[in-house]
Amino acid sequence: MRDDWERVEAYIVEHLGLSDAALDAALADNAAAGLPAIDVAPNAGMLLHLLARIAGARQILEIGTLGGYSTIWLARALPPDGRLVTLEADAHHAAVARENLARAGLAEIVDLRLGRALEVLPELEPLAPFDMVFIDADKESNPDYLRWALRLARPGTVIVFDNVVRDGRVADPAHDNPALAGIRGLYKMLSTEPRLTATAVQTVGEKGWDGFVLAIVDR
Ligand code: SAH
Ligand code: DHB
Ligand code: MG
Repeated sequence: MRDDWERVEAYIVEHLGLSDAALDAALADNAAAGLPAIDVAPNAGMLLHLLARIAGARQILEIGTLGGYSTIWLARALPPDGRLVTLEADAHHAAVARENLARAGLAEIVDLRLGRALEVLPELEPLAPFDMVFIDADKESNPDYLRWALRLARPGTVIVFDNVVRDGRVADPAHDNPALAGIRGLYKMLSTEPRLTATAVQTVGEKGWDGFVLAIVDR
């Protein structure tokens, strides 16, 4: 099954042209630097880019940079005077990301802040509101990240969470750990938060079986 998912993903990437020199170089340098290959898939990167364009985003917040692969997709959706703030706790990941973003010509538009997101987020209040928030860091903090996303948002802000299916473990009571608790807590908040309209979509491909949450801030 996974072979089929990977073959179709490769077909999509090839036939829609979802790679280029800067994206390929970022993935190659991530691997060379020993970063885990947990970036979003290319078609998911393009989905993020399209959502930012559809939302007309001028300011984007990303939590969890890794080597900046998703950052490149998102930052390319911004107008020249736009801004993307991305938060990364690991200094090695951040250093690799800075190089990848510079090579992609995005050093000016991306504001990469090193530190644990929950410590850095309060610094961002003067920059609010963000038009889009992409959350892809430590999953146990997802409920806190949703609270912060709402705090830094406006009506119409698009919020996306990566990794909300985890090979189906999210719905399997036999599995429990802090990351799954954070993901389940996110679903619980989404179902009870009156300011949000949200869905979750399963995905398969090179990254296995996973999914994302898409939400919009209503008020
Ligand atoms: N968005 C990236 C992948 C991010 S992987 C992409 O698709 O290309 C998750 C990242 O979150 C890792 O680099 C990890 O170091 C970072 N991270 C984990 N906990 C964090 C925290 N508390 N604050 C900020 N970043 C964190
Ligand atoms: C993991 C984190 C991610 O953001 C991801 O896309 C895939 C896996 C992880 O921590 O295992
Ligand atoms: Mg992820």
